Amino acid sequence: MSFFDKYAEYYESSWDLREHGLNVGIFEGDVERIAEQDLETGYEYCRDHVIELLQKIHTLDRDARILDVCCGTGATLSRIVNRYACKGVGVDISKAQIARANQLREQGVKEGRLLFRQGSASLIDQVVCEQLPFTHVLSQDGLLFAYDKPRAVEGIFDLLEAGGAFVLSDFVPQISKQEIDAALRARVYEDVKWGQGFTFREYFELLTDTGFEIVQAELRPLDMRNTYEKLIPRTHAMAAGGDATYTFLARRYEGIVKAISNGALSWAWFAVRKP
Ligand SMILES: C[S@@+](CC[C@H](N)C(=O)[O-])C[C@H]1O[C@@H](n2cnc3c(N)ncnc32)[C@H](O)[C@@H]1O
Repeated sequence: MSFFDKYAEYYESSWDLREHGLNVGIFEGDVERIAEQDLETGYEYCRDHVIELLQKIHTLDRDARILDVCCGTGATLSRIVNRYACKGVGVDISKAQIARANQLREQGVKEGRLLFRQGSASLIDQVVCEQLPFTHVLSQDGLLFAYDKPRAVEGIFDLLEAGGAFVLSDFVPQISKQEIDAALRARVYEDVKWGQGFTFREYFELLTDTGFEIVQAELRPLDMRNTYEKLIPRTHAMAAGGDATYTFLARRYEGIVKAISNGALSWAWFAVRKP
């Protein structure tokens, strides 16, 4: 059973109460405005950012064919498919996340606009070979868990048609696993449940070596920190009901905030085009 199978219900009840996504939020404006902005609005802004970047590279319209790698419950994918009346396929390794995606996005699935499949990002070319080609691929905050990131990125390249767009957001270590001191290593790697992370530079090189053209690349550590800072009190409040798993999750979030504040962990975004 994967981590996201085991904690599916906990995340569902505490992370994103509106759309049940599992993405990090984006927060806009000055400190006061950010303090007032709720998590769910942050998640919406993030989904809009994905759409804006995809659209910048390749037109989104009813002919678009979207692939969401590590889709979770498919919140972003279903937003795109509903907005542009196009078709989308979501892949996730977690049986529980795929089951929730099918329930939450039932209408789109029934109408044949959405298809969810259980499978590994590392083998993405095999999982969706019957659905290719795709015009747009997105992957939000999931590739960090994939054991073979180069194969995942190469698979995505092969699945895209020429001119197609790929938007990736992911957690990135800012210093190597060896360099980081032991206490912080626990925050960066154990709290995130991470094997080996790719740094921003490693992702950049992997994407260009695979053949992608970089259209936009950015680091957004403050958005990531704001998200976890807002999740901590919410999750502690859930723990007051007596379930210790929420305490465990809140502690992990505290560790992640510490790692971001220390400059050891960040949130990377890449928007790239297949030539
Ligand atoms: C932080 S969640 C993000 C989910 C979704 N992209 C979103 O933004 O709402 C990470 C997701 O990656 C999935 N995942 C982890 N390892 C994976 C792998 N090797 N292949 C496919 N999905 C994976 C998890 O099951 C989980 O649903």
